[in-house]
Amino acid sequence: MNASPTSVLVLHGPNLNLLGSREPDKYGDQTLSSIDHQLHTLADSLELTLATMQSNHEGDLVDRIHQAKTEQVGGIIINPAAFTHTSVAIRDALLAVAIPCIEVHLSNIQQREPFRHHSYIADIALGSITGLGGYGYLLALHALNNHFKTTQIG
Ligand code: DQA
Repeated sequence: MNASPTSVLVLHGPNLNLLGSREPDKYGDQTLSSIDHQLHTLADSLELTLATMQSNHEGDLVDRIHQAKTEQVGGIIINPAAFTHTSVAIRDALLAVAIPCIEVHLSNIQQREPFRHHSYIADIALGSITGLGGYGYLLALHALNNHFKTTQIG
């Protein structure tokens, strides 16, 4: 019988460490640790292994994506934050490791300034969840779990 991947990496980009106090009208009042806690609880119930990381540094996010390949991570959930709109390096890293990924944004980037409308990740992601606050991460984890169960590997 073919194995299903069970390991997920969640990456949070710059300034997301400030969630809770950062522009709550746009990003809500939930802290990042609260979002991560909810993700861990859901991962446990889905019998998935979960690791999370936040960084304000593009290269650190690229390095963590590379590491995910050596760890045989099955899926990545990423909110690249401002790097969404600028980073060819993060896009290339995701393409290089070829790990299925889901893009998440707390705010609806399509309803905001025009420079936020373009994402370097959207067209290479399995899908994008935008505008649903912290709940979007939980939806992304459900979606990856479903992807694992419906995709045969090995
Ligand atoms: C964000 C949207 C980005 O445009 C912004 O730079 C962020 C957060 C979101 O989650 O809504 O930092 O990715």
